[in-house]
Amino acid sequence: MPAITYPIDTEAPAPALPAIDQLNHLIRGRRSVFPQHFSGEVVPREQVEMILENAHWAPTHGRTEPWFFHVYSGEGLAQFGELHAKLYKQHAPADQFSEVKYETLRTKPTHCSHLIVLCMKRGSNEKIPVIEEIESVACAVQNMALTVAALGLGGYWGSGGMTYHPALRDALGLGPDDQVLGLFHLGVPKAAPAQGLRKTPWTEHVAWHE
Ligand SMILES: Cc1cc2nc3c(=O)[nH]c(=O)nc-3n(C[C@H](O)[C@H](O)[C@H](O)COP(=O)(O)O)c2cc1C
Repeated sequence: MPAITYPIDTEAPAPALPAIDQLNHLIRGRRSVFPQHFSGEVVPREQVEMILENAHWAPTHGRTEPWFFHVYSGEGLAQFGELHAKLYKQHAPADQFSEVKYETLRTKPTHCSHLIVLCMKRGSNEKIPVIEEIESVACAVQNMALTVAALGLGGYWGSGGMTYHPALRDALGLGPDDQVLGLFHLGVPKAAPAQGLRKTPWTEHVAWHE
C-alpha cells in the first residue's frame, strides 16, 4: 500500500484505490503530529467545521451526544495558554511547580492553528454509564483525527497540564459531572510525519474462540 504523502493535494483526483484500501491507508497512515512540526499556517474555517461535523457522527449509547468542543484560534490561542498556565500555577503543589512546564503550557497553543478542548458533557440519562459517555467522546476524537489526516493536516490529542483537574473544567463553565478529556492541537504539518510505530503486532491483542 502506498504511504500517505504530505501535504495531501486535496484538489488531485482521488487515487484509484478501492474504498477499503483508502480506509486502511487512512487509518494506518494517521499519525500524531506535534505543534513543533506545524508550519504556522492557519487551517481554513471550512476544514475545521468539517472536522467538527465528522466528530459529531460518532456513535453514542442512548443518543446522548456527550461531546462538547471549545475551539480556540487567533487571539484565543494565547488566551487559552494564559488561562492554562495560570491554573497550573495556582494549583500545582509548590514543591512540584516547574517554571518550564508553566512556560510550555502558556506558549504551546500559540504554535497551533486551532486548539480544540475535548469535553464530555454528562447528559441527564442516568442509565448511561459515565464510561460510555467518555468512550463516545473518544470515538468522536478518532473521527476528528482521521478527518485531519485525510485533509493532510496534523494534530494530536494531549492530556497534560491541567486536563483532568477540576479547576480547568470549572474555568470552562462545565458542570461537576462533566470532564475535560484532552486538548486536540491542530495545525498544518511542515513535513511528513515519521513512520508509525506499534510495539506489538495486532495478533497479540486478539484471542480467537472458534
Ligand atoms: C487519550 C490520549 C491521550 C494522549 N495524551 C498525550 C500526551 O499528553 N502527550 C503526548 O505527547 N501524546 C499524547 N497522546 C498521543 C500519543 O502519544 C500518540 O497517539 C501515540 O504516541 C501513538 O502515535 P500515533 O498517534 O502517531 O499512532 C495521547 C493519545 C491519547 C489517545
